[in-house]
Amino acid sequence: MTDTTAARDRVMIFDTTLRDGEQSPGATMTLNEKLAIAQLLDEMGVDIIEAGFPIASDGDFEAVSQIARMAETSVICGLARAAKGDIDRAWAALEHAKKPRIHTFIGTSPLHREHQLQMDKDQVLRKIEETVSHARSLCENVQWSPMDATRTEADYLIETVKVAVERGATTINIPDTVGYTAPRESAQIIKDLLDNVPDLDKCIIATHCHNDLGMATANSLAAVEAGARQIECTINGLGERAGNTALEEVVMALKVRGDIMPFHTGVDTTKIMAASRMVATASGFVVQPNKAIVGKNAFAHESGIHQDGVLKNAETFEIMRPQDVGLSDNALPMGKHSGRAAFRAKLKDLGIEMGDNAFQEAFVRFKTLADTKKDVFDDDLIALIDDERTSTANDRIKLKFMRVIAGTEDPKSADVVLTIDGEDHAATAQGDGPVDAVYKAIDDLVDHEAVLKVYSVQAVTDGIDAQATVSIRLEEGGKIVQGQAADTDTIVSSARAYIIALNKLLVRREKTAASNSDISIAS
Ligand code: KIV
Ligand code: ZN
Repeated sequence: MTDTTAARDRVMIFDTTLRDGEQSPGATMTLNEKLAIAQLLDEMGVDIIEAGFPIASDGDFEAVSQIARMAETSVICGLARAAKGDIDRAWAALEHAKKPRIHTFIGTSPLHREHQLQMDKDQVLRKIEETVSHARSLCENVQWSPMDATRTEADYLIETVKVAVERGATTINIPDTVGYTAPRESAQIIKDLLDNVPDLDKCIIATHCHNDLGMATANSLAAVEAGARQIECTINGLGERAGNTALEEVVMALKVRGDIMPFHTGVDTTKIMAASRMVATASGFVVQPNKAIVGKNAFAHESGIHQDGVLKNAETFEIMRPQDVGLSDNALPMGKHSGRAAFRAKLKDLGIEMGDNAFQEAFVRFKTLADTKKDVFDDDLIALIDDERTSTANDRIKLKFMRVIAGTEDPKSADVVLTIDGEDHAATAQGDGPVDAVYKAIDDLVDHEAVLKVYSVQAVTDGIDAQATVSIRLEEGGKIVQGQAADTDTIVSSARAYIIALNKLLVRREKTAASNSDISIAS
């Protein structure tokens, strides 16, 4: 930490990618994906990880409890509605964490009180007393949130926060649940609370902004300037509707503009790109090319004047260095003669860390790729590693073999062998084209009613030997899942993307079956 950093105020980063982010329709992640993301967040210095909503399903419970056991430094938080059963379940998932936190919430705005809760103001206040006290009887670290705070009457919001503080909440989070506020108002709400709630200065005040009007980052920073010291955010801004405040945006804004915003975070910014890629792959939400900080074009200079300036002095058109967010400054391609040491060094350069087994498997796939493709570029390696991460040992369905007949003559057909729950099953099918034939053969082997909603192919790099990333989205009974895979053979990536999505569908089905029927998850 530099002297200037030490003099600045510390802002806690609370990441809710695995809870609020995962609530985006179609962003369901597997247990292994959640563990990998949590491990990276822990390593990159995120202060608090909201790992899930334990009462929502057995899958969520399992994810929170495994993350709680695994995390080394981050506080691990679980969400609970204002109900004893929710809080007890959250605590059961969290109690083994080195640093556990229970986060409980209730709607406080007139719309939420009248229509969702059917409770009057007093009843809501009594519920807050009861539930915050109960949470505190289990855990010393309790966060309380008035859902839809920014549309709650100012004087009533003060009353609710007073009660939560009196009952022992240690963090008070002010959610802009529907992304309705604007920077000046966001700051004013925090100031009003600090001026009117005794002892609030002994708690951490948090801000949790949704991005419906594109102001989430600005609203979060305005809240910090007014006294909030925790920002709730997600990687890539993932989240329901227009998403949440993007972690990379607030962290980099505070780093780059420390001159006018004297605050700092504990996040190792060089891991931002790795986290962004991991979350994009696991959630299937591709990052838009012009997305601030993590978009493909965020550091690309196309126009002649810009390129000329950057070559002379990067600062002419760059306000931060690509390396500060973990972009490699060594884009030399690898090839079939590159050995293990070079491969390991390249992964390190790209901010990718993996255990020995995963490394050996990735190296074998790299060698196979290098046999097909002369130059293996950074983007090829990232696609390969992402792919390695999305298919896991726990997947119930695996692709063992496939062969297709395609061309100008009919029939187009596919032979497919899948290993399902450890047993091999074969099918042959015909279709309008090779992908259709493969999908029909898979459908003969896997019992599902999902409809293919999106199928898209993107070349990872330029050239005839480029890998193709196939992204697909399936919908079954209103539930959406996605799959993504890369290969130099587009039909193979199509099959693998489909199988990844079907594996997620199975997880999703288990989750739905286990979930409480009247549960309503907050955004
Ligand atoms: O947006 C929201 O209000 C939430 C709460 C549960 C904090 O996500
Ligand atoms: Zn939210």
